[in-house]
Amino acid sequence: ITLKASYFSANSPNSSSFHEDSLIEISDNGQITNIIHQTASEYSERLSAARQHDHLITLAPGHFLLPGFIDLHNHAPQWPQAGIALDRPLADWLNHYTFPLEARYADLDFATPVYQDLVTEMLANGTTTALYFGTIHNSANLRLAEICSQAGQRAFIGSVAMDNPDQTPDYYRDASPEEAINKTQTFVQAIQDTYRNGFIQPVITPRFIPSCTTETLQQLGQLAQSQHITVQTHCSESDWEHNYVRERYGHTDSEMLQSFGLLNQHSVLAHATQLTTTDQSIIKTEQAAIAHCPISNAYFGNGILPAHELLNQGIKIGLGSDIAGGYTPSLYANLQQAVTASQIRQDGVDATIAADQRGVANSRISAKQAFYMATVGGATSLGIQAGAIESGLLADFQIVQAPPRFASLTPDEQLEQLLFRHTRHQIKAVYVQGKLVHEKEHNWYE
Ligand code: GUN
Ligand code: FE
Repeated sequence: ITLKASYFSANSPNSSSFHEDSLIEISDNGQITNIIHQTASEYSERLSAARQHDHLITLAPGHFLLPGFIDLHNHAPQWPQAGIALDRPLADWLNHYTFPLEARYADLDFATPVYQDLVTEMLANGTTTALYFGTIHNSANLRLAEICSQAGQRAFIGSVAMDNPDQTPDYYRDASPEEAINKTQTFVQAIQDTYRNGFIQPVITPRFIPSCTTETLQQLGQLAQSQHITVQTHCSESDWEHNYVRERYGHTDSEMLQSFGLLNQHSVLAHATQLTTTDQSIIKTEQAAIAHCPISNAYFGNGILPAHELLNQGIKIGLGSDIAGGYTPSLYANLQQAVTASQIRQDGVDATIAADQRGVANSRISAKQAFYMATVGGATSLGIQAGAIESGLLADFQIVQAPPRFASLTPDEQLEQLLFRHTRHQIKAVYVQGKLVHEKEHNWYE
């Protein structure tokens, strides 16, 4: 197919491009093979060729194409408790709400409708790729994979390893390091055998250092070193968690993850609000990525990720909903919160407020930077050919209707309104790898 559309796409943290009425040619296997801008000499020729072959889709006036969003941190099993008890401290919330809920996924009849509902909801919110935590149960994790594959959402899924009796309840724990490792290996193999095209990928997933024994962390690290598989875990999320690791090992999360072999260019660390400068350089050296979960961080981290500084250092950052530490699967809401939180961290812009009184200079991030994190930042973190509208990348899109009185704005202002005046009803259609996976109504094309 060829899409005739005006689109926005991020190039780098500080720059995005806008093109009007371009022709985006998509191959049968879902790749963008060519983009022809209005100014190109072959434009009219390609336009009539596409028309003649009956595979031209022209967006209706007032509709725009954006890259699909990439959710870099999401606990699929926690969807039923979204919004509940977020005022509790992390350890309390895990023990009283999260672990009892996750234990229920031993039952596939419980798991199936929850996972179906979540994946449908995420696609309707424009999220075309997700990095998921499952539960400790491989049968439910494989069910999540099937559901993502059928619904057409690209997914990275982890079978959660957690075997430390001190920090996990009897009813929800891997029985031993052997079980945690074997289960991970079985899951990796099953996913790789079933989804050979990589549309669904397995993830090595030690829940976080407190919930795992040293042996399990070491062995999962060895597995990560021997195979090029994505790794995900929580890192320096809250004071309690950060201090727990310091007391247990005398080192920070990042130092320990590095020593276990769990940090490399395939690793995604959720939260990371409490990093030291040494931690930051470890993450940079290992080329690991950070999943910025701004809504969740306001609750459990009660911290604000220094996103501006981390982006400036060239550390990979994407955005995560952290369902259900964050209450919404919408990455629009999360990119809005990323900007809002950074504004709170910023020092007084009013010159009468001294920078040392409160806040941090130059810490605010722009709408563009947040857009970058939700798209290219996530794709770079996962090493996938997606996140932007560019020739050679996968055709993952959302088609959004603009709010009223939009036409008189500059392209930069338009992008800001698409991101900040957003409601879910404006997402009219979603494509993953060239395939229509969500359609709200038909009036988005001519
Ligand atoms: N740390 C360990 N497990 C979890 C979890 O499920 N959610 C959050 N936010 N942090 C965690
Ligand atoms: Fe989390």
